[in-house]
Amino acid sequence: MNLAAVAVNLLAIETSCDETAAALVAETGDPARPWHVRSSIVASQTAIHREWGGIVPELASRQHVRDICGVVEAALAQAGVQRTDVGAVAVTQGPGLVGSLLVGVAFAKAFAWAQGIPIIPVHHLAGHIESLTLAHGELPLPAAVLVVSGGHTSLFLVPERGVYRLIGRTRDDAAGEAYDKVAKLLGLGYPGGPAIDRLAREGREDRFNFPVTRLTHADRNAPRATGSGLLPAAVARRTDFSFSGLKTAVLRLVQERSASLAPGVGLPPQDIADICASFQRVVVEALLDRTFEAAGWLGAQSVGIAGGVSANSRLRADAEARGARSSLPVFVPPIALSTDNAAMIGAAGLRRYRAGVVGTWEFNAEASLPLSV
Ligand code: KG4
Ligand code: ZN
Repeated sequence: MNLAAVAVNLLAIETSCDETAAALVAETGDPARPWHVRSSIVASQTAIHREWGGIVPELASRQHVRDICGVVEAALAQAGVQRTDVGAVAVTQGPGLVGSLLVGVAFAKAFAWAQGIPIIPVHHLAGHIESLTLAHGELPLPAAVLVVSGGHTSLFLVPERGVYRLIGRTRDDAAGEAYDKVAKLLGLGYPGGPAIDRLAREGREDRFNFPVTRLTHADRNAPRATGSGLLPAAVARRTDFSFSGLKTAVLRLVQERSASLAPGVGLPPQDIADICASFQRVVVEALLDRTFEAAGWLGAQSVGIAGGVSANSRLRADAEARGARSSLPVFVPPIALSTDNAAMIGAAGLRRYRAGVVGTWEFNAEASLPLSV
């Protein structure tokens, strides 16, 4: 029997940050839509970290230890799959919080070893990219894919299936991090993205003129152009992002306005909504300008946007409108696949498995791990 030809049920595990997640992803046999999610369980730690205003790494890794067994059992039960029917395990190797990643990697190795099945280490961002194929089927290639989350703002060229070339990245804060920090200084709690998204709908986006940083030239902090060799030299430096200046501009505005208020009095709700709307307009424009410009320079046949911030309603609506204007199909995952989950790791794991990549027992969790395959 040709084992490689048998459709595989893969158990995927994701613990890179503050979600303990497990999923069963199966192959469909259909090359256009290769994977099917049989179950996907996410145990979120948001309630724990909210109390501290952000993620506390030590608390995150301890909670992963508490949750991992139950989450995997729930994923197997929901899929109706016995341990013995699992053909391979995929796990997020990095990047992320090393103490969190270690829990998933140790569990995945133990499971795979006990069952005598292969283990496939997966890059977290490959997971976000493959969430698009998991949801929509194979993308028209080449594709320009923006991965935008709390930890990352990275633009990739996907020239062929399973190949990811970095062409742009943030030089400082990730877009989701900017959302979270701005929400914190407005007193909106953690995580900030959904709160700002909601309030922005009630605000005036042209009330405050926040700056957007455009990187158009060499600077001392840039080791080399991110997209060098892939983009024309004249534009290779223009695909990077920067959000820390915007965050500081919001901070200054909040400080100025608060100075005229009595001590202990917060900004009026309309000011907060207007700040949210104005901030969001600038972030969304910065993300989409670079992505669609790069798509044009690269002759992309489609645009993908993945990661937690792709849940943003304004980003989704504007991306679709721009896609329609430039006759480029735009793909965004459903909300459940945009924030961290294990189904996307399963998809990227099956992609690697079918490309013949299987991990050794020696691989380890990596807090920083480049993705350019
Ligand atoms: O992909 P993800 O779950 O975790 C990382 O890999 O970082 O992304 C989480 C990020 C957080 O910064 C959160 O504020 C942001 O995604 N986020 C949003 C929205 N929903 C989640 N940002 C803007 N608008 C949203 N609706
Ligand atoms: Zn993520």
